[in-house]
Amino acid sequence: MNKFKNVLNNIRLYFSVFNSENRAALWVHFIRNLPSEGIFPEFRWRFYKKRLKNCGRFYTHTGVIIKGWNLISIGQGSWINTGCMLFATGKAQISLGENVMLGPYCVITSQQHSVLDTNQPMIKQPLSGEGAVIIEDDCWLGAHVVIAGNVKIGKGSVIGANSFVNKDIPAYSIAVGSPARVIKSRLETDRSSGSQ
Ligand SMILES: CC(C)(COP(=O)(O)OP(=O)(O)OC[C@H]1O[C@@H](n2cnc3c(N)ncnc32)[C@H](O)[C@@H]1OP(=O)(O)O)[C@@H](O)C(=O)NCCC(=O)NCCS
Repeated sequence: MNKFKNVLNNIRLYFSVFNSENRAALWVHFIRNLPSEGIFPEFRWRFYKKRLKNCGRFYTHTGVIIKGWNLISIGQGSWINTGCMLFATGKAQISLGENVMLGPYCVITSQQHSVLDTNQPMIKQPLSGEGAVIIEDDCWLGAHVVIAGNVKIGKGSVIGANSFVNKDIPAYSIAVGSPARVIKSRLETDRSSGSQ
């Protein structure tokens, strides 16, 4: 009898793949993992266009994870490299301006795990520290940059590879390290026609 029940449970489990929640999850996985070349990034963009809060025409490599669609805005011309994760939870937004470049494996999230209660595993504690992440136009984040809530990166800034950003970064800065510190301003080395 138990054997029969097990077989029945297994059949039920396998067929649950076809329920609406699992079909949706498979579809997201499929879109996310389409190739980075050819027409496929266009398919991905069309998928996100219908779902994100605001969305210019932007590019994603294969394997980018975007969660909390209704809280996320991504501007025109932005470029998101492979393995990046944008994870908006609670009410805090994540906003990428226009022409923003994210190097591979950046993690941008608007909340952290609470660590206040030592009697409860952290995985069971509510998320804490909700705060928007705003990355203004024309920023470049190197590979493996991590931003966890309540941070604004000013227009035209560069964040070096492997940095952890936990404070606002003024416009046109170059900031590196963990935590990220401003090491120079791009305005000092500006070679545009308007500069002296
Ligand atoms: C930040 C960056 C753009 C360099 O900027 P830069 O203005 O040319 O800086 P410099 O190379 O002159 O370095 C200045 C100082 O910052 C340090 N530094 C540079 N990048 C750093 C980083 N990512 N983390 C920690 N320190 C860094 C340098 O060691 C140097 O320190 P020192 O003065 O003690 O010697 C570059 O180092 C970087 O991180 N690029 C990202 C590369 C990447 O991820 N590419 C793939 C994604 S597209």
